[in-house]
Amino acid sequence: MRCCTLLKVARPFCLAMRFIDALFYMGASLMQDRDLNQYRPSLSNTSRHLPCGHKLCDVHSVCKGSKDPCPYAVQYSSANTSSSGYVFEDKLHLTSNGKHAEQNSVQASIILGCGRKQTGEYLRGAGPDGVLGLGPGNISVPSLLAKAGLIQNSFSICFEENESGRIIFGDQGHVTQHSTPFLPIDGKFNAYIVGVESFCVGSLCLKETRFQALIDSGSSFTFLPNEVYQKVVIEFDKQVNATSIVLQNSWEYCYNASSQELISIPPLNLAFSRNQTYLIQNPIFIDPASQEQEYTIFCLPVSPSDDDYAAIGPQTSL
Ligand SMILES: *[C@@H]1O[C@H](CO)[C@@H](O)[C@H](O)[C@H]1NC(C)=O
Ligand SMILES: *[C@@H]1O[C@H](CO)[C@@H](O)[C@H](O)[C@H]1NC(C)=O
Ligand SMILES: *[C@@H]1O[C@H](CO)[C@@H](O)[C@H](O)[C@H]1NC(C)=O
Ligand SMILES: *[C@@H]1O[C@H](CO)[C@@H](O)[C@H](O)[C@H]1NC(C)=O
Ligand SMILES: *[C@@H]1O[C@H](CO)[C@@H](O)[C@H](O)[C@H]1NC(C)=O
Ligand SMILES: *[C@@H]1O[C@H](CO)[C@@H](O)[C@H](O)[C@H]1NC(C)=O
Ligand SMILES: *[C@@H]1O[C@H](CO)[C@@H](O)[C@H](O)[C@H]1NC(C)=O
Repeated sequence: MRCCTLLKVARPFCLAMRFIDALFYMGASLMQDRDLNQYRPSLSNTSRHLPCGHKLCDVHSVCKGSKDPCPYAVQYSSANTSSSGYVFEDKLHLTSNGKHAEQNSVQASIILGCGRKQTGEYLRGAGPDGVLGLGPGNISVPSLLAKAGLIQNSFSICFEENESGRIIFGDQGHVTQHSTPFLPIDGKFNAYIVGVESFCVGSLCLKETRFQALIDSGSSFTFLPNEVYQKVVIEFDKQVNATSIVLQNSWEYCYNASSQELISIPPLNLAFSRNQTYLIQNPIFIDPASQEQEYTIFCLPVSPSDDDYAAIGPQTSL
């Protein structure tokens, strides 16, 4: 997903619901004989309400009886963005990503939330309705598939520029890929949190830039704890050799470079424990409108945050 305007994105903007589209795009590309539209439990003869008494119904305190349908309510950090409704169990048809797709098709029971009431970004096109879990918790699709012994507990998700994309459950990544462990919060693995040892700008790894980061598909761009942010932007500004400009409704550090000059953008890396590093592939955001001009307007798409952890969004990190 790429944005087409140079706008500052509000605090974490949840695209979790977007995963539902992505899943069906995947289905559509692998199972062309089926017309996979938006999921409706009433049109599926394998759907059933998850009962309140089920161990994965974590809100049973609001249920009257154990056979009642399990409700859910999710509140995102984007202002006023929420989805609530009922939890359903259904069978997902999955085909192998490999060559012998036909022989390897399987059915798996998964759980998803069908929205009845959506607010905020949902109503502004962020997603149709409902939620599909991709987190580390027991109720998420990758966790359920792994528990059923179908895959390793991992997945990848990729979007094309045209907003279509696919999720590959069980994707183990490339052999050369680096890794770093997820960290628990209060002893629980509820979110994808990693520990960054330092933020590196060019060849300089900045001192005292250790922080925890939430790998957050819901934040379009990246937010850094204020103190880390200040160190990073000052060093970036020092190393980039383009004219600094101030733009309304944009990030704080933006530049205007004439197309004739070679712009040197310092590479940005995250250093993790055990010498693992991660190169940020798209460290700058280029205003697409400026590319047709004689100059290029670009920004460092990073914002300060009052939180003591960072939120790393897919647009800058992947
Ligand atoms: C569900 O519907 C499909 C297609 O209409 C049919 O082939 C299948 O037998 C049905 N399954 C059950 C459990 O009723
Ligand atoms: C969120 O909702 C409250 C109450 O309805 C409203 O006052 C506020 O302006 C809303 N905020 C945004 C960012 O939409
Ligand atoms: C998830 O499932 C495991 C094994 O079934 C269980 O030990 C653990 O307590 C569950 N975690 C949560 C948060 O429910
Ligand atoms: C989006 O782009 C991908 C890759 O370029 C292509 O395979 C796919 O068909 C496109 N999807 C749509 C809906 O245009
Ligand atoms: C930026 O650096 C490049 C390479 O060192 C140089 O060619 C270019 O003229 C510089 N541009 C500015 C605006 O300093
Ligand atoms: C960028 O610089 C060019 C000249 O090099 C100028 O024409 C243009 O207005 C500048 N754009 C902004 C947004 O400052
Ligand atoms: C990390 O890299 C440095 C320098 O390359 C090396 O001295 C050190 O032993 C490495 N540490 C680990 C844990 O691999």
